[in-house]
Amino acid sequence: MNSSPQHLAIVMDGNGRWSKHQAKPRHFGHKAGLDVLKKIIEAAAQRGVRYLTVFAFGIENWLRPSTEVSYLMELFLSALSRDVAKLHEHGIRLHFIGDKKGIHADLLQSMQKAEELTAANQGMHFIVAFNYSGRWDIQQACQALTQKVLSGELALSDVNEAQISAHLSTAQFPDPDLLIRTSGEQRISNFLLWQLSYSEFYFTPKYWPDFDEAELDCAFAFYQSRERRFGQISEQIESKHA
Ligand code: FPP
Repeated sequence: MNSSPQHLAIVMDGNGRWSKHQAKPRHFGHKAGLDVLKKIIEAAAQRGVRYLTVFAFGIENWLRPSTEVSYLMELFLSALSRDVAKLHEHGIRLHFIGDKKGIHADLLQSMQKAEELTAANQGMHFIVAFNYSGRWDIQQACQALTQKVLSGELALSDVNEAQISAHLSTAQFPDPDLLIRTSGEQRISNFLLWQLSYSEFYFTPKYWPDFDEAELDCAFAFYQSRERRFGQISEQIESKHA
């Protein structure tokens, strides 16, 4: 049986539909979603998760109405100024992955400060995918690798899976063991395309603002019931654990 996932990734989906169901404006759902996230960070750490990655803002999210994008940027900025101290107190180490280009200078500065402040912490790594997309990540890794090949630093024959992983924005983290997506959607939506190759997927119809510790435990129970074979057969996995 697996224990708690070492690396949990979450697509926090359904804030907008949750608001609509309550006849409230969409930003209500985002605010409620942030409150849920704070609880889940704590719950995940308590359950022994070492890496928690959340999809906070995708590159494609810039296409949303400008009022919603502005609200989300304000929400991220205020969350960073209000909540980072508490994460720091709990020994959590913050990281941001994604394209730094296009992020407002104020927000970028807060992100960098939060990373610096928490860099020496020994608790759970909390990784926020912000202005992120899986294709962007693979593209920037390809560019960095091509540069090294062109300069002679790396031989073409050395461009292998390990090198690609080492040039992704997640190079310092293991691949996710479990992906949770809320709101009933069952797709990756350009999240960690390379890194999710062998992750288990847990889908729940609950909207993200309704997600709670009980649902997290259901996801972990599902994960613990899975046999992870990584391309091998059951007997090989069983003999490893015997
Ligand atoms: C998806 O719901 C949610 C988002 C795009 C934003 C998620 C952001 C938060 C919960 C706040 C996180 C804050 C920090 C600091 C990490 P949706 O709007 O796509 O919902 P819908 O599919 O029902 O429209």
